Amino acid sequence: MKIVMVGAGYVGLVSGACFADFGHDVICVDRDESKLELLKLGKMPIYEPGLEALVERNVSQDRLRFSNDLASAVAGADVVFIAVGTPSRRGDGHADLSYVHGVAEEVGRALNGFTVVVTKSTVPVGTGDAVERIIAEANPEAQFAVVSNPEFLREGSAIEDFKRPDRVVIGTEDDRARAAMSELYRPLSLNASPIFFTSRRTAELTKYAANAFLAMKITFINEIADLCEQLDADVQDVARGIGMDGRIGSKFLHAGPGYGGSCFPKDTLALVKTAQDAECPVRLIETTVSINEQRKRSMGRKIIKACGGSVRGKKIAIFGLTFKPNTDDMRDAPSISIIQALQDAGAHIAAYDPVGMESAGGLLTDVAFADGIYEAAEDADAVAIVTEWDEFRSLDLQRLKSLMKTPIMVDLRNIYNSDEVIRGGFSYVGVGRAKTPEATARVLQPEFEAT
Ligand code: UDX
Repeated sequence: MKIVMVGAGYVGLVSGACFADFGHDVICVDRDESKLELLKLGKMPIYEPGLEALVERNVSQDRLRFSNDLASAVAGADVVFIAVGTPSRRGDGHADLSYVHGVAEEVGRALNGFTVVVTKSTVPVGTGDAVERIIAEANPEAQFAVVSNPEFLREGSAIEDFKRPDRVVIGTEDDRARAAMSELYRPLSLNASPIFFTSRRTAELTKYAANAFLAMKITFINEIADLCEQLDADVQDVARGIGMDGRIGSKFLHAGPGYGGSCFPKDTLALVKTAQDAECPVRLIETTVSINEQRKRSMGRKIIKACGGSVRGKKIAIFGLTFKPNTDDMRDAPSISIIQALQDAGAHIAAYDPVGMESAGGLLTDVAFADGIYEAAEDADAVAIVTEWDEFRSLDLQRLKSLMKTPIMVDLRNIYNSDEVIRGGFSYVGVGRAKTPEATARVLQPEFEAT
């Protein structure tokens, strides 16, 4: 099939390259000339494992092309995907749909013969209706159907997620569009991945509901982690214990510094706004959003507490800046609020991230970026692990300790076994794993007094 992907950003590029790999003929259209130049040279504008090789293979076999000429690409297409950004609108938190609407109009003018127009961007309920209206106004003769097909790709494992999805959700009420979408995803149905058809509005809401639920699940375990610290229980065992219940499931129960990234913060906020506008507030999600916001800064206070209550004039080494490993994405990364909170309290920050330092540069001020873990830790009063990159999992604790001024480790991703770090001579603080004698005493004391 002939596919056009409008927007060669994260979603468009990964999806376009994967569709080409399925054997379809794909043109990725973008108006950013410098991005197109890079892509034509085989260089990726984003960091995503496996993407460069995938693009190279499909470009060399002539199934994947890049262009800025939307009109001619669309004229020859069976399916046109709209995969442009829907950032949070400044001021009100609603999704900014100006790019989606602009592309819809351009696509509308260029349509030629029956074409399926698919919104892949995460868009509020009713956007499909608006896209349909815009196309019909731009080109009253156009023969088309508008479909919602949200993506559920995780950064860092997007290609694997695309090729082996838990499900594909397709929202359409049009039979021709349904047939075209089935054909498009046929390689996946052969793989036994469920292709789930529903109405367009339902598909749009499904994406937001999925992200909101996952954000809520993370926030739930983060609150339980805080409670564990007060009660001297272990959140990792609680997560294991509840996760074995099939109704709950074990994934997305890792306590940490709060969720970040390009999707959860923006999509939860957009859902809150949509629900408020519909006079049907989603209070669980409203609360999730505010707990997560507060949590990021409170992680800064946690580090300060681990340093004895003050970090004024102290050097704190931050290991990991990106919102999660295997990406260079810094959008809404907890590290930003944590570093800000530490700087506000008078700390000097040295940071190391395997790939995120370039994108972090523009977002952080007065941070000394180091060439490696041990360089960052030199003379530090504490190290804080903020992102769980693999290379932080096997630190040489003796070497680390010998470099630091005081051996304090704050492990915000629980990647270490606390006993091992304590045996290595460190003072160790994880998330939801407090086993300090003081905490035990504080909780047990009232009971002792009563008996
Ligand atoms: C997410 C969704 O998973 C994906 O389906 C959607 O299409 C886009 O948003 P992504 O933003 O790439 O993907 O990251 P994800 O791996 O889901 O993690 C999001 C955030 O939650 C990260 O900050 C991560 O550290 C945090 N997280 C995740 C936790 O703190 N604990 C967990 O158990 C899982």
